[in-house]
Amino acid sequence: MSNKKKGYRFLDNKKRKQIDFLFSLLNQLAVKHPYLVVLILHEYTRILYGVDPYIDFKIKNPKLRIDTKLKELTDFSKLSLLLGSYNRKDDKKFYFKLTDKVSNDLKNKTGNVYGPLWKRFKRINNHEALRLLKNRVQKKIFKNKKVLDAGCGGGRYSYAIYKSGAQSVIGLDYGDIGLKVAKKNYGKINNLSFKKGDVLNLPFKKNTFDTVFSNGVIHHTSNVKKGISELVRVCKKGGNIWLYLYSTGGIFWYSRRLMNELMKKIPYELSSNFLKMMELPDNRFIFMDNWYVPIEKHLSHEEIVKILKKLNVKKIKKIIGKNKFDLDFSLKKYKNSGSIWGEGEIRFLIEK
Ligand SMILES: C[S@@+](CC[C@H](N)C(=O)[O-])C[C@H]1O[C@@H](n2cnc3c(N)ncnc32)[C@H](O)[C@@H]1O
Repeated sequence: MSNKKKGYRFLDNKKRKQIDFLFSLLNQLAVKHPYLVVLILHEYTRILYGVDPYIDFKIKNPKLRIDTKLKELTDFSKLSLLLGSYNRKDDKKFYFKLTDKVSNDLKNKTGNVYGPLWKRFKRINNHEALRLLKNRVQKKIFKNKKVLDAGCGGGRYSYAIYKSGAQSVIGLDYGDIGLKVAKKNYGKINNLSFKKGDVLNLPFKKNTFDTVFSNGVIHHTSNVKKGISELVRVCKKGGNIWLYLYSTGGIFWYSRRLMNELMKKIPYELSSNFLKMMELPDNRFIFMDNWYVPIEKHLSHEEIVKILKKLNVKKIKKIIGKNKFDLDFSLKKYKNSGSIWGEGEIRFLIEK
């Protein structure tokens, strides 16, 4: 199924048109008032979740909330387009330049999008990873095991896995800034190390690890099949692979695609500075990954199962996210909410 078609899953035509209209306004506004687009998109991004840890939603029912906000943000965008603006392209003094595309640097290096985000994560935020991990993955897949954290970012889960009793953990990523943050926070711990490398070509022999953990990485690569086959290759027979991927469908995933497209018009630094001005809490800057990441693929459970079956893995178990911010949690809490969150997220515990 084409990516375009997948986005329409669970999404009725009327709602899709409303979302498309909002984004057509935002695309115009990006040229005149990019900072207002950041303000509006911040509001839009947060209402797409079932809960917000920092601001109470006035309207609790997510369907009603999204409907209401969609109308309000559309009106706000229309009015914003009436505001006067200057031709910044000619204004050399301005601290940013409006470009049509994100810089090549960002395009080529996903790591550069994530790097500044990991820097914002404080040690305490990283410690939250241990709680999140406990609610999602059984400890026994880590206890006394040799573990790879493939695409470790700032190392929050590498550390959480180490704390779950692993014999040894290697965190691997190709982003220099993330690796630097990981080493700064956790570099002095025995049996926990960090290595630079590509998940599409893992620098390990086959059957090296008892457990391979990969959280939110493979959908950012150019080759999902190759990425998954690499995770399976380096895992020992009888070992476990824990795989988290974005899924597809509904308002949520459809909107993420449009947000990613829209933000190509607005420099990363502008958004980052504006969100700082708004005093967005540090661990919420992760919003920006969707806005700026060069590749974000949305995959169905079926597609991933098909890839895994071809690799002859022994068992595939679907894990339901139990944390409040997991889309699965909201999908379960609110009946018939596939129109909002589609297939939710993909969490598979795989046995090789
Ligand atoms: C959403 S972050 C997840 C990080 C970490 N697993 C976590 O959950 O905190 C995605 C990470 O994947 C890394 N990444 C993307 N493609 C990669 C590749 N081909 N090889 C290695 N790392 C990659 C990025 O640099 C980024 O740190």
